[in-house]
Amino acid sequence: MKEKQDLIQSNVAVCKKVNPTRTHKINKDIVVIKETGVSNKYKSKIIDDSWDFRKANTKEMTHCFHSYPAMMIPQVARRIIENYGKDKDVLFDPYCGTGTSLVEANIQNINAIGTDVNPLARLISKAKTTKISFELLNSEINKFVNYSFNLNFKVKRNNSIIIPQVINIDYWFSKNTQEKLAVILKYIGNINEPKIADFFKVAFSETVRAVSYVKSGEFKMVRSKYIHDKNDIDVFGIMAAKLSRNKNGLFEFSEICKNDTKSIIYDFNTVENIPNNLLKFNSIDIVVTSPPYGDSRTTVAYGQFSRLANEWLGYNAANQIDNMLMGGKRRKCNYKFSSKDLNEAISKIKSEDAQRARDVISFYEDYENSIKNVSKVIKKGGFACYVVGNRTVKGITIPTDEVTAQIFEDCGFIHLETIIRNIPSKRMPYKNSPSNVKGLTSSTMKNEYIVICQKL
Ligand SMILES: C[S@@+](CC[C@H](N)C(=O)[O-])C[C@H]1O[C@@H](n2cnc3c(N)ncnc32)[C@H](O)[C@@H]1O
Repeated sequence: MKEKQDLIQSNVAVCKKVNPTRTHKINKDIVVIKETGVSNKYKSKIIDDSWDFRKANTKEMTHCFHSYPAMMIPQVARRIIENYGKDKDVLFDPYCGTGTSLVEANIQNINAIGTDVNPLARLISKAKTTKISFELLNSEINKFVNYSFNLNFKVKRNNSIIIPQVINIDYWFSKNTQEKLAVILKYIGNINEPKIADFFKVAFSETVRAVSYVKSGEFKMVRSKYIHDKNDIDVFGIMAAKLSRNKNGLFEFSEICKNDTKSIIYDFNTVENIPNNLLKFNSIDIVVTSPPYGDSRTTVAYGQFSRLANEWLGYNAANQIDNMLMGGKRRKCNYKFSSKDLNEAISKIKSEDAQRARDVISFYEDYENSIKNVSKVIKKGGFACYVVGNRTVKGITIPTDEVTAQIFEDCGFIHLETIIRNIPSKRMPYKNSPSNVKGLTSSTMKNEYIVICQKL
């Protein structure tokens, strides 16, 4: 109730009912209709506590594989698919991250396609949706455990170990740790079966993070004060524990997902285009996705979060990823959007800080281009389900949910509903530093908006 009151006080603009000829006129009345139960399609914006999933286990099956910033809650993807994806053939997630919606699609007998600019995200998504036989995986993990057990714990400098190019490596890892990671990397390099190698790489990526000097709980590259604790850390033991946990997750997934559905992960950027040979126009039944909240510099730094793992895994442009993501390239400052609310928010931000306004424009220009491209691949009658956050810049809240609905409407969709959920446990820092000034923090958002549109 308290959250509802907060929302009312913050004067969230809520449309009372769906109007097919909606011209983005916002009715300032609040509609709070849900205490329980199923969403009502005839209210276009509702607060629904039943979508909070406060006590849900968000680490079931392969969802336990790897942490990642701003992951979607599996239960949210599951319920969206239950509501809008019944008996559908293909789901697409254009910002798939660690593949939450792909896993959930496969479980519900739907093939899935995902893409993400971050190679680490693509690797995790692939591993989370790839089944491996119990016997094979068990024997591969046992082999690794025996191998690492027999190794001298103080691995001697060995000429055959190659430490990859990791920027400032001595600042982030002790020498001892570097050598042990290099031993594991070499071990993985000798695994012949690609799906086993990918499975190991995912555990390796989390191990890299766990044994580095990066402060725990930080998404950005912040060095811990307590680096001595990490100097003699049990690198092989951590790797083995992650392999074992992920093995259990994969078995659970295989038990639940008995069908033959597949997930395919591509490397294209929907802001630029969607290659027609990979995804045909009008071929997708449903899009379920959670796009970034804003540019990586000032919101969630996916590239920084993944940098060390990407570098250890041989991705040389790892420190460039944040610039490649949405809003990563600064644009001109005079762009006008079809969303009146967005233009208004931007002009207010501009009067405070022109540079920040440029960041916002750059992000939403990319966002608009991406939605235009995604719209083309959705079938007539198909659904676009976007889980978004309304971020605040310079004290001004940007109504990304409204902007999303507006852009889809401009692309020939109708806005069916927006469900507002509380974020009880989203893996985001509660405070962030949008100004990137040390010590200056602001609360990150407490609500998520599930925007559902349908192609006419
Ligand atoms: C909120 S996260 C997605 C999390 C995902 N739903 C999950 O559960 O793991 C947003 C993702 O968008 C990706 N991204 C940002 N810009 C992109 C772009 N232009 N094309 C594809 N992916 C992009 C980021 O790398 C990040 O993985």
